[in-house]
Amino acid sequence: MEAKEKIKFLTEQLNEHTRRYYVDSNSIISDYQFDMLMKELEELEKQYPEYRLPESPTQRVGGETTEKFNQIKHEIPMISLGNTYNEEEVREFDGRIKKSVHENYEYVCELKYDGLAISLLYEDGVLMHAITRGDGISGDEVTANIKTIGSIPLKLIGDYPSKLCVRGEVIMPHKSFQRLNEDKLDAGEQPFANPRNAASGTLKLQNSGEVARRGLDFKPYTVIAGNLAATNHYDSLKLAAKWGFKTSNYIVKCPDIDEVFNFINYWSENRKNLDFDIDGIVIKVNDFDLQEQLGTTVKVPRWAIAYKFKAESACTELLSVVFQVGRTGAITPVANLTPVQLAGTTVRRASLHNADIIKELDLHEHDFVYVEKGGDIIPKITGVNFDSRKKDSNPVIFPTYCPVCGTKLIRNEGEAAHYCPNENNCIPQIKGKIEHFISRKAMDIDSFGEETVSLLVDKGKIANIADIYKLTYNDIYGIEKIIIDENNNVSRKISLKEKSTETLLKSIENSKKRQFYHVLFALGIRHIGETTSKKLVKYYHSIDNLRKAGFEDLVSHEEIGEILAKAIIDYFADSKNIAIIDSLRSYGLKFDDSKITEQYSLFTEELPNVNPIFSLDGKTFVISGVFEKFSREEMKELIEKFGGKNATSVSKSTDYLVAGNNMGPAKRQKAEELGINIISEDELFEKK
Ligand code: IVH
Repeated sequence: MEAKEKIKFLTEQLNEHTRRYYVDSNSIISDYQFDMLMKELEELEKQYPEYRLPESPTQRVGGETTEKFNQIKHEIPMISLGNTYNEEEVREFDGRIKKSVHENYEYVCELKYDGLAISLLYEDGVLMHAITRGDGISGDEVTANIKTIGSIPLKLIGDYPSKLCVRGEVIMPHKSFQRLNEDKLDAGEQPFANPRNAASGTLKLQNSGEVARRGLDFKPYTVIAGNLAATNHYDSLKLAAKWGFKTSNYIVKCPDIDEVFNFINYWSENRKNLDFDIDGIVIKVNDFDLQEQLGTTVKVPRWAIAYKFKAESACTELLSVVFQVGRTGAITPVANLTPVQLAGTTVRRASLHNADIIKELDLHEHDFVYVEKGGDIIPKITGVNFDSRKKDSNPVIFPTYCPVCGTKLIRNEGEAAHYCPNENNCIPQIKGKIEHFISRKAMDIDSFGEETVSLLVDKGKIANIADIYKLTYNDIYGIEKIIIDENNNVSRKISLKEKSTETLLKSIENSKKRQFYHVLFALGIRHIGETTSKKLVKYYHSIDNLRKAGFEDLVSHEEIGEILAKAIIDYFADSKNIAIIDSLRSYGLKFDDSKITEQYSLFTEELPNVNPIFSLDGKTFVISGVFEKFSREEMKELIEKFGGKNATSVSKSTDYLVAGNNMGPAKRQKAEELGINIISEDELFEKK
């Protein structure tokens, strides 16, 4: 009985803290305290699975895998909206309403979120099903994935109807989108073209753990229930807010169409400041009775319309297409354009992604092309102005051979990209692999720059990642380094003198201390991004174990898919890679996590922007208590990152005791007795 009560208590507490964090942006406990409560609940649920509640927050972290999504019929079909791109049609819409409605009416204007529609079904306040729009009649059940979205309540609060349907848009905020695409690029994969595709690709994932990591959000826009305590749309969303949904602040009631245009004009100018994409404004008749009276046409409601923003576009000349070779050998066609102003920036280049896109566009040399840009997104060529095409112009041809090394390109089945298979001899691939190896999230040899790598490769000083550790003072001294200013222009060239040479050699030496998951990520194995690397280390602990793992063993872990497993097997099958690993090992790089306990699994994003206040080099730290800015494990990771050592108990060899809240009195007493410095977290690290 006690366990049952405790599980219920923890579930309620954690759901409340989640709401405070994601919906109210007003958290009252630290992440560490939250994690501890979650751990406690997880353990209890493991022991007493029969007491686990359907709204348990442990589902938020995901982990469930779905082979195939069930189809569920929508009780009320999910129809879409009529839309328009011009003011005149909005006035016509208003005219039609005026004609049919003979009393006063008002509109509600809200943002048109650019994601994908989802229908959430609650029974007695508990989220039971989440269904995609599908064809409007029935859709995929994606409940496990949806439960990972922090702003969606698993259990409603307050006075909610026993049966409730809330519909809205699942979106990917810009921040999550950028992080996801960076991860994709790090792993040598194709990034998503825009946040909408990313959101929709994410919801279709069969692994909810990955969905949890990607940071989706939800914007409710429709509330459906029998006996709703609201007579209009605006009030129904206010109710949703009371039940624990994160409703938008940008909803207004407009007494007439001129007010509607004020709202439209405001957001057409200010949408660039939002941290998510919108593609227009939705205008709805507020009153439910009037909505019903107006009814729907075959496809769309007569009481609402979407005004869509025109994507900003410009027409400019295609100067050339270059085919860039990335570190994994993937060929990316990039269009060089006559510079043109678009959405406040000058566009000079646009990605053409792959051969299929060039073909679809029917792109010819020196065509005039339309470029579009939405939000923060990379400009994209959306079409060709065929009228201005010169008669004798040639089509843009995707190369058959690598534009740099001349090797015949390959295209794997089911993949859009072409690859140059000459991994170890194709210069941009060599340089790309080395740049990846030294990058911040990998070996973090920060005094190296792209240009230095390029020069060292061109001079024949390094030909692969292992050669970095062979570099001598004489190899580096005198090498030119190009300094780039904030506008990305070359501002000056300097040649490396004694001090910079020594700094570079020192940071190469320091990189040998990097943990195994950094090293594994740095090797640049296809599809292994930073997070995947951490997971592989968690499962296999050493490079030798990973190498020995067969396909079946690899895919038995739910986060390892077939493509990744194949990439790992292919990597180890190449004797050149083995030789590189052996040589890196001989220089002392870490290829197992035996000396490391848990640190690697801590920061989900990146290390926080802090610097130590004094040098931690070689000093021994004992941390105790609870910290405000970091969890204990994070604290330990930071101490190691800056060259310090962690110990668990206070002894003569301890240099500092870092005291958090609620520190045990015994540790403090011992430290005082031994005369050890006792410092706070703020006396150890400061914000950069
Ligand atoms: S109301 C019957 N409100 O736009 C009316 N839809 O083209 C149902 N959308 O499928 C939709 N933001 O996915 C509504 N504030 C908003 C919206 C919105 C985005 C999407 C929705 C719908 C599509 C209609």
